[in-house]
Parts: sequence; C-alpha cells; structure tokens
Amino acid sequence: MNGAVKVFEVGPRDGLQNEPRHLPVASRLGLIGELAATGLRHIEGGAFVSPRWVPQMAGSDEVFRQLPGDDGINYSALVPNLQGFEAARQAGCREVAVFAAASEAFSRNNINCSIDESFERFAPVLRAAREAGIRVRGYVSCVLGCPFSGAVAPEAVASVARRLHELGCYEISLGDTIGAGRPDETARLVEHCAGQLPVSVLAGHFHDTWGMAIANVHAALALGVRTFDSSVAGLGGCPYSPGASGNVATEDLLYLLHGMGFATGVDLPTVARVGARISAVLGIASRSRAGLALAARSKRED
Ligand code: HMG
Ligand code: MG
Repeated sequence: MNGAVKVFEVGPRDGLQNEPRHLPVASRLGLIGELAATGLRHIEGGAFVSPRWVPQMAGSDEVFRQLPGDDGINYSALVPNLQGFEAARQAGCREVAVFAAASEAFSRNNINCSIDESFERFAPVLRAAREAGIRVRGYVSCVLGCPFSGAVAPEAVASVARRLHELGCYEISLGDTIGAGRPDETARLVEHCAGQLPVSVLAGHFHDTWGMAIANVHAALALGVRTFDSSVAGLGGCPYSPGASGNVATEDLLYLLHGMGFATGVDLPTVARVGARISAVLGIASRSRAGLALAARSKRED
C-alpha cells in the first residue's frame, strides 16, 4: 500500500451546475445517496449562490435539510458570502467552501467582485463559521489559466491560496477551471504553493477540457498532494468558464489511485454504476473512460 488519498466528490455540485437539464431536489438527493453508498466520505452536495446566476443549484437548502445528519459523511456546500453562509447554516451544513480566484477577470465574472472584495466577503463567513463550529474549505479558481485573461502566474495562485489558509480555511483546493493545464505546469504550481503552505492542506481540482486532468493528478500526487476533487462520470463545468468541461471522473481517479496502491475506501465498480445511471438520467454519455471500460467489460461477461 502506498498510503491513503482523500477523494472529494463534487458531482452533485460542480457536476450538475452546468448541465442544461436541471435536476429536481429529489433526484439530487438520490444521486448523493448513491454516491454515499460507494464509500465516498466527502461529497459536495450543493451551492448557496444566487439562483439567478446558477439556477441548477436552486433548492440546495432543501437538499441539505433532507441529508442524513449522522452517517459520518462530510457533506459540503459552496457559499460566496455571508448570505449564503447563513442559508447553509440554517439548512444544517457542517462544512462550507468559499471560492476565490487567482484572476481578477474571473472573479468579476463568477462572483461579481474583485479578488480583494471577495476576501472582504469571506472574512465574516470565516468568523461566523468559527463561532458555529462549521469547517470552511477554500477554492482558488484559474490556477492554470483564466478563460478571460489567459495565463496566470503560479505566484498569484500561491498568494491567494496562502490568504485563504491564513483566513482559516482548513484545505485549499486548486482549481484548473478551464482544464487546460499540463502536468509540467501542475508540478510548477504545486511547488510554488507548497513553498507557501504545507502540502497536506492542498487539494487538486482538475477539469478535463484538454484531456490532461488525470495526468495533472499524477503530477500532483508525485509532489505529495493527497486530496483530489472529482466528479462521477466526469460531469461538470463552470457556467462562468465558457467551453470548460467536467472534472476528472471519479471512476478514472479511482482506477489510477487503486492501481498505484493508494487506498481510498471507495468501490470503483459501484461508482461506475452510479456514473452510468446519472449519465442516462441527464441524457448524456459518461465522460469517464474507466466507467465506459468497466461497462463494456461487464457487457462482454454477461
Ligand atoms: P451580486 O448580484 O453581486 O450580489 O451577486 P448582490 O449582493 O448585489 O445581491 C444581488 C441579489 O442576489 C440579491 O437579490 C441578493 O439577495 C442575492 P435581489 O434583492 O436582487 O432579489 N444574493 C443571493 N442569493 C442567494 N444566495 C446568495 C446570495 N447573495 C446575494 N448567497 C453572487 C453575487 C456571489 C451572489 C453571485 O455572483 C453568484 O451567486 N455567483 C455564483 C457563481 C457560481 O456559483 N459559480 C459556480 C461555482 S464556482 C466554480 O464552479 C469553480 C470551482 O469549481 C473551482 C474551479 O473549478 O475553479 C469551485
Ligand atoms: Mg470546478
């Protein structure tokens, strides 16, 4: 065994927030329940954002109200400001995530404020969360490029990551929002961030637009990153990142990790069945290569 890796499933949030077919609360709860039964212990269940900006996440309060409170699973939700945090707290969330960007243009397009203004919004969230005993994760978007302004320096990413950590975020997820980064760039990025923060607080969040997500996971793994965000069936994308596709598929991530001897506690064939089912519900083909390979193999064996 090579040690343990934490898999942070973002399908019910990142996966569904950009789908043209909007799933009702009951279907989202069904998906979360199925994912919970695979062994996943960290699931992002929704976002307390403006329903005018992201209608797919409307009803996240209902989702969180109906989630089991005592199954040992960490259900997390995005909150952009204190208003979102209060709604999340009232719905019973025990973990929230604030989301910053390393690019000014993306920050304005995604959350309608500058990077500095976003930190002014996050500070009261972190204060209120500390008082309520709610953990806060932090995201940095555009770590390997911005859909509006192009290249992003690793120094800029490391600086935003450090600010989030200093504010009190327990983990910093580095988001390749546009899914254009390569493993050499990922290695440079992780080295810069690990110069500012312990590598144990870093997570990789790689979108797969250019097919590099799993290679980027491998590069980050080699440098000691042990938490990765992924999305069942490779669902997802950001509505404010035109053309970006989904996260690395959870099935593909598990195939890599288990093959390399990392323990995750998650059952790959069960995740693959969930991926096939949710893809059918959404009327799309699964974007997981491992999921498709497993489905083809079980068809051959039937
Ligand atoms: P704004 O318009 O600047 O907000 O939006 P405002 O404070 O001026 O308020 C305007 C209206 O929004 C008001 O309603 C507020 O009540 C309401 P009105 O009086 O007009 O009826 N409002 C809210 N409603 C619900 N929940 C809230 C909330 N806050 C204000 N929390 C805001 C600012 C941040 C709200 C908006 O820009 C927004 O919701 N953005 C969300 C963007 C988003 O969800 N993007 C996708 C997630 S990020 C992502 O995918 C990247 C990630 O995966 C990592 C990666 O891949 O890089 C995490
Ligand atoms: Mg994302």
